[in-house]
Amino acid sequence: MDFPGQTQSPPPALHLRALSLVYDKRVLFGDLDLTVAAGRFTVLLGPSGVGKSSLLKIAAGLIPAQTGSVEADDGKPLAGRIAFMGQQDLLFPWADALGNVSVGARLRGETPDLDRARALLAEVGLADRAASLPHTLSGGMRQRVALARTLFEDRPLVLMDEPFSALDAANRARMQELAVRLLRGRTVLMITHDPLEACRMGDTLVVLDGAPARLDAPLTVPGEAPRPPDDPAVLQLQGALLRRLMR
Ligand SMILES: Nc1ncnc2c1ncn2[C@@H]1O[C@H](COP(=O)(O)OP(=O)(O)OP(=O)(O)O)[C@@H](O)[C@H]1O
Ligand SMILES: [Mg+2]
Repeated sequence: MDFPGQTQSPPPALHLRALSLVYDKRVLFGDLDLTVAAGRFTVLLGPSGVGKSSLLKIAAGLIPAQTGSVEADDGKPLAGRIAFMGQQDLLFPWADALGNVSVGARLRGETPDLDRARALLAEVGLADRAASLPHTLSGGMRQRVALARTLFEDRPLVLMDEPFSALDAANRARMQELAVRLLRGRTVLMITHDPLEACRMGDTLVVLDGAPARLDAPLTVPGEAPRPPDDPAVLQLQGALLRRLMR
């Protein structure tokens, strides 16, 4: 599929600057800076409840931060340039899988390219479930519909929150490879709890930890993604990453 060619302008870097977020008088993070490098795949890890999803929602413009800014380094507005895949699949219950994949275009009043939506459903292994309603799909199938919907949006900036968390190991590995292939050259920030996934997919890894949460210095992963899951360097790095996460 000629997927990457459809994006109009080169992807910018995303600068998150001096972000702070307070929930119920509890400072989740304060004065947090993160640059998501242009055209690179950045992976965010950290313990449950530390604030990863909240940070991603701020980056997507879905919730406000108390302080700070989110800007593209090309100076252009972010509106309309971000695809967001949330931790919940948020499928529309009244639309079938094909309708959910293409719903963004319909909501914008555009005529969706249904051939492309069908091709993406096939890429996520659901060619035969295009007419299925969400409640008739398994959790992992629903998540793959949500992934196809995110890829269908064809945006230069892509933010994904644990996009493969409901998948079996084999599908998970396949979807990791698909996402790397179809998102190559875009500016991606993805959250995962899986150190192996991070080491297979990420160009840069960042760990959010502590209360209030801080970011570790970013770690650059050598070699081109998707890296083989049994590559000794990948296995060594995932072990080191797991040790860091267990600290
Ligand atoms: N709308 C909200 N109102 C109040 N507190 C919230 C809200 N959303 C999240 N929180 C709190 O903020 C903290 C961080 O939540 P967040 O969802 O960002 O964590 P996370 O790092 O993504 O965790 P997980 O790995 O479990 O998904 C949690 O303590 C959560 O209870
Ligand atoms: Mg989360």
